[in-house]
Amino acid sequence: MDEIIIKGGKALSGEVTVGGAKNAALPILAATLLTGGKFRFQNVPDLRDIDSIKELLATMGADVQTGDGEVHIDTAGLNHYEAPYEQVRKMRASILVLGPLLARMKKAKVSLPGGCAIGARPIDLHLNGLELLGADIALEHGYVEAACDQLTGAEIYFDIPTVTGTENLMMAATLAIGTTVLRNAAREPEIIALADVLNQMGADISGAGTAVITIKGVKHLFPVDTAIIPDRIEAGTLMVAAALTRGNVHIKDCDPLHLKAIVHKLEKTGATVTADATSLTVKGNGPINSIDIKTMPYPGFPTDMQAQFMVLLSVAKGFSVISETIFENRFIHVSELRRMGADITISGSHAMIKGVKSLSGAPVMATDLRASASLILAGLAASGTTTVSRVYHLDRGYEFLEKKLALLGAAIKRVPAQTKP
Ligand code: EPZ
Repeated sequence: MDEIIIKGGKALSGEVTVGGAKNAALPILAATLLTGGKFRFQNVPDLRDIDSIKELLATMGADVQTGDGEVHIDTAGLNHYEAPYEQVRKMRASILVLGPLLARMKKAKVSLPGGCAIGARPIDLHLNGLELLGADIALEHGYVEAACDQLTGAEIYFDIPTVTGTENLMMAATLAIGTTVLRNAAREPEIIALADVLNQMGADISGAGTAVITIKGVKHLFPVDTAIIPDRIEAGTLMVAAALTRGNVHIKDCDPLHLKAIVHKLEKTGATVTADATSLTVKGNGPINSIDIKTMPYPGFPTDMQAQFMVLLSVAKGFSVISETIFENRFIHVSELRRMGADITISGSHAMIKGVKSLSGAPVMATDLRASASLILAGLAASGTTTVSRVYHLDRGYEFLEKKLALLGAAIKRVPAQTKP
């Protein structure tokens, strides 16, 4: 297991390019199961989670080839409808194959994804929706066993605007007979990106990006050649790195329209942000202002940026409060930040942060994807050296983050974990 070593105190400067969005690529690659044929995807990020979904598609009989940021998938040979536990446990978003498999093969057997570090992560809203579309759902031996003669359109109301739930049901409904309406649907840019690709494939979807999505079922879908949108969470993470180190960083190939909540909050902390259609520049200025943050479904402040902003606020002037409303256990990074000198008190879903003058470098351990990014950020700002272990968590969702930061002037390197004596 690799470690990342950071010597803090360097102001970042220069230009960095954002990669393709993990959370757009995952449902889009799963959507290839909806039809047979040759797909080509560009700007696919090189991440462990993407490897996981590619492996899963290959076990189902798809031919998956990767090279130069492109992924080519031929689903003509699809001959399996099972997503086994040993693969789903590696990446819970594998549940995204459930809807497409059911729609195309009329049956699916997918391991229950189980929880993860940040929460129980139930899938009841996915399963309730599929039942409304006419599927028979059974939970046996840790698996979801789903079957149908033919999915039929329905009205589906989500108690919570679930991102992958919206994606699963949107994909399943494309081949249903009749019209499906998803109400209280998630509105993330990744939902819009998936709907765009499905419509390119011949689906008839309207309303993506709003709380009401209408899917008119069609008989067939066709393979496409398309590109993945930029990763707004990687962009946001790089923006925080620039502000935190009082740097001046130009972030290219992103979509500032997806970053409005992040820009709004970053400017309130005192950073300067300028943007054009496909890039933005973040300048960190003097003292960092304390602010309050409440994570919300899009277009609110994203929960996937909560840990990163906590680092920024841990060295702000005064008190800040972060309220985490999406996941029940997404403060795991706090204990490691405290070891670096952060003054943070947790009360239920709220974190009270008293800004300190500086963090101090320490050996810390990553626990989940965004927590690992926050520890890297903390190391950039801390005095002294920080060693982040278990960086396989980071590699799930960030493409060579340490290389991008080093190109911006950070004193950061990846080393094989020291074999303990
Ligand atoms: C997606 O997870 C993202 N993952 C997460 O990103 C992100 O944090 C999350 O949306 C919220 O924005 C992918 O897109 C692959 P939800 P998802 O269903 O779809 C509850 C990252 O770091 N819920 O929107 O699993 C759930 O417990 C990852 O890239 C139910 O109760 O999240 C949570 O409290 C982490 N029943 C809330 O809804 C359900 O059936 C939102 O979850 C489904 C969800």
